[in-house]
Amino acid sequence: MTDSSSHWDKIRPQFDALPYPNHPLEKHPGRDSSDLAKHNYTIPYYLRNHQVVDSTDKWILDAGCGSGFKLLALAIANPGANLVGVDISPKSLEMAQQRLDYHNVPNPFALHCLPIEALATLPYSFDYINCDDVLYLLEDPAAGLAAMRSVLKSAGIIRANMHSALQRADYYRMQKFWAKVGCLEGSATSEEMAVVRQTMATLEDWVLAKEQTWMPAFETDDQRLLMNHLFRGDTGITMADFSTLLQRAGLEFISMVNWRQWNLEELFKNIEDLPIAVALNIASMTLEEQLYLFELLNPIHRLLDLYCGHPGQGRDRPPVEDWPDELWPNTMVHLHPQLNTAAFRACLEASAENLGLLPLDQYLKVDGQPIGVDSSFSSCLYILLSGPQSVAALVQRWQQACPLDLITLQPIPVERAFQTVRDFLVGLEKAGYIMLEAP
Ligand SMILES: C[S@@+](CC[C@H](N)C(=O)[O-])C[C@H]1O[C@@H](n2cnc3c(N)ncnc32)[C@H](O)[C@@H]1O
Repeated sequence: MTDSSSHWDKIRPQFDALPYPNHPLEKHPGRDSSDLAKHNYTIPYYLRNHQVVDSTDKWILDAGCGSGFKLLALAIANPGANLVGVDISPKSLEMAQQRLDYHNVPNPFALHCLPIEALATLPYSFDYINCDDVLYLLEDPAAGLAAMRSVLKSAGIIRANMHSALQRADYYRMQKFWAKVGCLEGSATSEEMAVVRQTMATLEDWVLAKEQTWMPAFETDDQRLLMNHLFRGDTGITMADFSTLLQRAGLEFISMVNWRQWNLEELFKNIEDLPIAVALNIASMTLEEQLYLFELLNPIHRLLDLYCGHPGQGRDRPPVEDWPDELWPNTMVHLHPQLNTAAFRACLEASAENLGLLPLDQYLKVDGQPIGVDSSFSSCLYILLSGPQSVAALVQRWQQACPLDLITLQPIPVERAFQTVRDFLVGLEKAGYIMLEAP
């Protein structure tokens, strides 16, 4: 481990002065929010291994846990898991402790004032490591990733993200400007923030720096100003650089966290109309290379947010729409854990009286399009609230709920029922609301 202590001394004061996030203790991540869904270990494990794992007794690390809001989300999203939080800011850890106490978190947990680079000194190894909004602050992100890999179990998964150099280019330009005019030295101070605010107020409104980087919130919100214009140690990279970081750390890319929002194909009106040479080039690329193309064309994501793990742990599986018929009857269907809420149960119960579309995205926002499903499937979803079911059992249930063809009034043949339920499940799996475990 290299000695990064002077780097930590540069980062720490900002988070001791203002632990991040500065949400009040009583704020709850929301049982069914997309934020909570992002913290579920079951989901990335399914993305890589196509198997559904239970969080009970798993070990989860929040690396750079700050004031503990995401530790709280990790606790709620992963019932029965052991939690560990580390951070270099003692004040942030104090707030994390208060937050977990305030919410009476039932998971066993431990907090340590420790840099990520020194994780190997702790007596733990982890199934899941969450390193959210932290890696870009490390002096050597590859060394940080390697330190996390050293405490990752063989089938473990790391979620880590870096700032996008392309999406945040305007802020990096401003950070250079502030450094040139004497800011960004030592710890952040209120005088420095006042200097930035006054300078920006003096700028003409048409100046690009103001148009592109100045928001009304920066006038009053110290944390937002500090974490953009005056962010100490903030580094942005591209997806191509991130691939190199992973290689240097001995890790393998699994998937983007919000992978549905990184679809290169969707950036073109019709991908079939691309010049053949371009199409062939793209087709010969790895997924990581294609993600780099995506951000060159459309750098909309502040974070390059991804899952990775030890190499060679993934299992290949054809897309569910290509599965042969014989695989389906004994396939087990699991509801997304964050969809299993009292509110969704009540929605399904109400659907017995109010036929129509069930707006699934109102109960769980997976990062895609709004999704509604026909209420004729309510009985299938309802039984999934009590545990996984085989596809055969769901087909039977659907047939009991919808026995007759509405036009001919003849019984619906089992092949058609099977096809209907299968199409429904394929759509839900692709949208991220269920997981399918083949026998
Ligand atoms: C932007 S905050 C993010 C906090 C939390 N992960 C979240 O997303 O809410 C960054 C945190 O990383 C911590 N940090 C920075 N460098 C670190 C390091 N080398 N080891 C451990 N923590 C670090 C800071 O003290 C700060 O609390």
